[in-house]
Amino acid sequence: EDDGKERTCKRYSEIISTLPKEKGWTTEHMYQYQGFWYHSVVGLQGIMWVEEHFKPRHEDLLLVSAPKSGTTWFKSLMFAIMNRGQYDCSTHPLLTTSPHELVPFSEIFFHLNIPFPNPDTLSPPQIFHTHLPFTSLSQSVLDSQCRIVYVCRNPKDTFVSLFHFLQKKEEENPREPLSFEEAFEQFCKGVSVYGPFWDHVLGYWKASLEWPERVLFLKYEDMKVDSSFHLKRLAEFMGYAFSLEEEKQGLVKEILKLCSFENQSNLRVNKTGRFRVGHMSMENNPFFRKGEVGDWKNHLTAEMAERLDRITGQKLNGYDLRF
Ligand code: A3P
Repeated sequence: EDDGKERTCKRYSEIISTLPKEKGWTTEHMYQYQGFWYHSVVGLQGIMWVEEHFKPRHEDLLLVSAPKSGTTWFKSLMFAIMNRGQYDCSTHPLLTTSPHELVPFSEIFFHLNIPFPNPDTLSPPQIFHTHLPFTSLSQSVLDSQCRIVYVCRNPKDTFVSLFHFLQKKEEENPREPLSFEEAFEQFCKGVSVYGPFWDHVLGYWKASLEWPERVLFLKYEDMKVDSSFHLKRLAEFMGYAFSLEEEKQGLVKEILKLCSFENQSNLRVNKTGRFRVGHMSMENNPFFRKGEVGDWKNHLTAEMAERLDRITGQKLNGYDLRF
């Protein structure tokens, strides 16, 4: 088994050594693979493995996001929707367990030697998360016809959030991080983790137009502003629609409260705890910073904001999609 893994790692590393490189934000290099940029060799190996081995079942759900688009929040919302009825408010796993432990990140399975669930087993449906771009999803994901929930966020807040996260995150491979200005340049050029940001978003936007019953496209900002409406939409799409009875009981509001930034970021598990998947563990705290819409105003100059808006306008030109 280990031998197989070693050989696989070697095979992936050989491919990676031929890829275009750029200076990383906190790693030495970023690598361009199938049109998108990745943070490190280790990260990219995980991605190649997901491409080859991830076979969700039809009834599984896939949450996809570009990094810092609200993944943590949507993991908790989807988990709470799917498992409601099993727990009450005082014993809910989301009070003591990180959403990242409850909804696993597919790209790290390879390094942890965790097999994907066997599609033949009768275990209940699962939610998986990936940051993979639509064009890199394997044929087996498409063939499974599992439902995909894509969450995105306006590029200015996403950039600010990503910059702060990478500064805080413990790195396997530490190196003097890029300055805010340098990172901004790279983001504008599309050289960000799983970037270009706009191509990532557009891949799923187009898929959601083509297969609306299979791909639900949601925005962080919409969920913030019109939470009940979008939570109900999400639940319906997932196949777990709220009944009128449940709505009357206040379940929609309860789930929103349980998963809110205020609540989640103040839990002990998310303040000082770590989440564990296999033998790996990571601090929960960096996933909670401000949780606001428009924090970019405190970080980007007017010129930077205009430039990012201009790029966004150009990239999304011709698509009925605004930020
Ligand atoms: P900020 O850095 O702007 O605060 P991801 O989960 O994709 O890594 O994204 C992290 C961003 O989502 C961070 O944004 C984080 O604070 C915010 N976030 C985390 N939990 C949230 C929640 N329950 N509700 C709203 N935003 C949340």
